[in-house]
Amino acid sequence: MPPFARHTALVVSVLTGIFLRGAEAQTFPTRPITLVVPFAAGGPSDTIARLIAQSMSKTLNGSVVIENVAGAGGTLGAARVSKAETDGHTLLIHHVALPAGASLYKNLSYDTATAFEMLGLINAGPMVLLARKNDPAADAPALLARLRGQGGDAMKSTLAHAGVGSNSHLCGLLLSRALKVSFTQVAYRGTGPAMNDLVSGQVDLLCDQSTTAVPQVSSGTVKGFAVTSGKRLGVLKELPTLIEAGLSGFEFTIWHGLYAPAGTPQPVIEALNRALGVALADAQISARFADVGTNSYPEAERTPEAHRALFQREMTVWKEVITATSEDK
Ligand code: MLT
Repeated sequence: MPPFARHTALVVSVLTGIFLRGAEAQTFPTRPITLVVPFAAGGPSDTIARLIAQSMSKTLNGSVVIENVAGAGGTLGAARVSKAETDGHTLLIHHVALPAGASLYKNLSYDTATAFEMLGLINAGPMVLLARKNDPAADAPALLARLRGQGGDAMKSTLAHAGVGSNSHLCGLLLSRALKVSFTQVAYRGTGPAMNDLVSGQVDLLCDQSTTAVPQVSSGTVKGFAVTSGKRLGVLKELPTLIEAGLSGFEFTIWHGLYAPAGTPQPVIEALNRALGVALADAQISARFADVGTNSYPEAERTPEAHRALFQREMTVWKEVITATSEDK
């Protein structure tokens, strides 16, 4: 092929590509979008997903339907989305457990670092250390002293969590390490069902995200002891931070992000990021977030690039934490 013909062919194919990609964005979505929540209904990830799905449905002029694919600390839902069609109709909401899971699970069916497109960060907030409502400890220092005092015998206390690698499990891992104790762990498919068992007194402890912890503490169905943020939480200001309660340096912030399978076209990624931005700019959603002690990411920090940078940092951080603990899957 003469050089000019090669050049023309290249220009035509680039233009065709641009046209098709533009057309893809214009016609997206062509059917209901499935938003996979990798934990049980009623938990914090499910709550956040349902809040943003309503608004995104309106913006995208389609419907965003929640599917709970729970189990194995959120890795089953992630696996489902990693293998979905790359057309933007199957999305994943996930949190810190996605990058942390890369170090906790040795046989994942997806490569965490490359399997997903980042569509943007959603919210960030702390966790709350909770116990049964009739726990005898008067405050966080007393609870921590009792657990510490159990030493090798802390196995007496049951700690509920949402599966290996979930936030509630990671929070428990950090707590065990800080107190030098191990708990009897009880794994659930999400903190929704774990919370039900804490409310009915079948387990002793749960570290849950503020999203679902705040309403339970406020209504007195469980006892809140401390928050994992560096500062007290406005909506639970009577609770100290774990640092104030004596666990120096104990800080753990949870963030959620939105994902699509790797290979999703750029215009579709941009359309989904824009729709997420509209949801997070909605005053009603911000107010609902504020009521439960979580914050949406500001516009400049919810770009796909910022999301990828945080994701990569968290993969490194959790690899170090998990290597430093003997606990492994
Ligand atoms: C859930 O929605 O159940 C949680 O996000 C689980 C967790 O990571 O603790």
